[in-house]
Amino acid sequence: MKSKIIVTGGLGFIGSHTVVALHEAGFEPIIIDNLSNSQLSALDGIEKLIGYKPQFAQFDVNDAPALRQLIEESKPHAVIHFAAFKAVGESVEKPLMYYRNNVGGLVTLLEVMKETGLTDIVFSSSCTVYGEPAEIPVKESTITKPAESPYGATKQMGEVILKDNAPWCNTQCLRYFNPIGAHPSAEIGELPLGVPNNLIPYLTQTVAGIRESLTVFGNDYDTPDGTCIRDYIHVVDLAEAHVSAVKRLIDKSYQNAFEVFNIGTGNGSTVLEVINSFESATGLKVPHTIGGRRAGDVVKVWAETTKVENVLGWKAKRNLETMLRDAWNWQVKLSK
Ligand code: WQD
Repeated sequence: MKSKIIVTGGLGFIGSHTVVALHEAGFEPIIIDNLSNSQLSALDGIEKLIGYKPQFAQFDVNDAPALRQLIEESKPHAVIHFAAFKAVGESVEKPLMYYRNNVGGLVTLLEVMKETGLTDIVFSSSCTVYGEPAEIPVKESTITKPAESPYGATKQMGEVILKDNAPWCNTQCLRYFNPIGAHPSAEIGELPLGVPNNLIPYLTQTVAGIRESLTVFGNDYDTPDGTCIRDYIHVVDLAEAHVSAVKRLIDKSYQNAFEVFNIGTGNGSTVLEVINSFESATGLKVPHTIGGRRAGDVVKVWAETTKVENVLGWKAKRNLETMLRDAWNWQVKLSK
């Protein structure tokens, strides 16, 4: 009998790749998604990759009765909670929507988990909680700073809520750095809904001719080439980190009820380095101009990965060129 794992937001960018990785690791994923920021076509892509259509329930995590019924019927071993809004700029314009969905959704999920005796959760957090990091590379013990957006605040609140519910609730809290790329099959990837805020989808849409030119937000920062530095991580590596976290939750040989891990590669790349890496990986030019700084941008952030390697036994395997080549192959598939 395969261990069932509920994946909220399982048709989203990271969720869909995690569903595939869970299957490949011998788990049975069950998807919850309200399709507010994803599309049903992701389920077809998942089916092509794993050979069957996983159980999918379309409802919002704030729908407690539906959540309770699914948990009671499926008796999962754990939940991976992705369902949340994640656009920094949008969160500034619509803070209440973010608090209702991201914080309210987590509270509802935890209430129903407590009622149904489900204790194990993997929580999707973000390096955003560090703000402009107090030290580089960032450790899990690096001080977190006041959030610079409602989105970041919802991630910080989520971590506090989970910590306050230990030890009845067992949490593996994963702080993502910058997830990019797509499954190498190009069957699943990051669905573009509107004008992309993030660098890679905007870059690939520019190369595909959908966007005029990529604007590099500032080249006067204190970095080697003046552009901001990020720790970009392949979405398949990130998905595999979630499988490692689920395995740790199910393995009751440890007692920590709230554990935090930085999920990054440990390498930082500037925006111009990303552009150059894309051009050498694909042989295609990226039309770009240098523009002004973007408000709220952190200058440099990348992960210190000793803890996740030693405790979870996970390490990113894919390099930047692979991430960018897979991102481009997905864009080509979308443009067909
Ligand atoms: C990366 C770099 C930009 C677009 C955000 C969230 C984070 C996570 C990932 C959810 C920056 C530069 C970007 C463009 C550019 N979200 N850039 N031109 O801001 O590091 O992280 O998304 O999990 O929580 O904060 O990602 O891709 O927007 O920006 O020059 O058109 O690319 O200035 O230096 P960011 P990003």
